[in-house]
Amino acid sequence: MDLNEAITGRRAVREYTTESLDELTVTQLIHAAMEAPSAKNVQPWTFTVLRNQKLLDQISEVSKALVLKTITPPLHFDQLQSYLQDPKFHIFYHAPVLILISANADGSEVIEDCALAAQNLMLAAFAAGLGSCWIGLAQNFLNSAEGKKLLGVPEGWVSVAPIIVGHPKSPAAPVPRKKPEILLID
Ligand SMILES: Cc1cc2nc3c(=O)[nH]c(=O)nc-3n(C[C@H](O)[C@H](O)[C@H](O)COP(=O)(O)O)c2cc1C
Repeated sequence: MDLNEAITGRRAVREYTTESLDELTVTQLIHAAMEAPSAKNVQPWTFTVLRNQKLLDQISEVSKALVLKTITPPLHFDQLQSYLQDPKFHIFYHAPVLILISANADGSEVIEDCALAAQNLMLAAFAAGLGSCWIGLAQNFLNSAEGKKLLGVPEGWVSVAPIIVGHPKSPAAPVPRKKPEILLID
């Protein structure tokens, strides 16, 4: 796929079929993520692959409760609150796989590094005909001591990018972009 097609065509996908994702595909996505640049080439990332739907259900429930306790108006407050209070709302949208990118090293730029890896992963997923979505709603819990213990992730790591991947039920609608804000300095 042409790079521009991938950049403009990728969407956050929130509806998945029940089809699973084979190991080879997950490995290929991780390799694409690892091609990202990183400051001083530290490559400070670890990829935790979760397929256990019971565990994902559990993380979804705990994350919802945690976010509900911490959100404050005004930004999208009412809409988010009603989603989080809806027992049917699953933060991972029942996707077959969650790939969590964690920063596994100290450093002032490890978050940027992991975010770049995340974008590579999402673009590669799209190019492979798959859907993906970064699930920020999981981050509070995945960064808590309890969340790290549940996944067996060391306390010192930072959970940066929880990304769900799966086969989209249907193509996601395009999301409009703002006009570019460009500051030209002579
Ligand atoms: C850091 C980050 C956190 C996000 N968290 C969530 C989330 O918790 N749930 C969700 O459904 N989408 C989440 N998204 C997806 C955004 O809502 C989505 O990327 C945005 O609306 C633009 O749509 P597009 O990705 O289709 O272009 C997140 C995206 C980013 C970059």
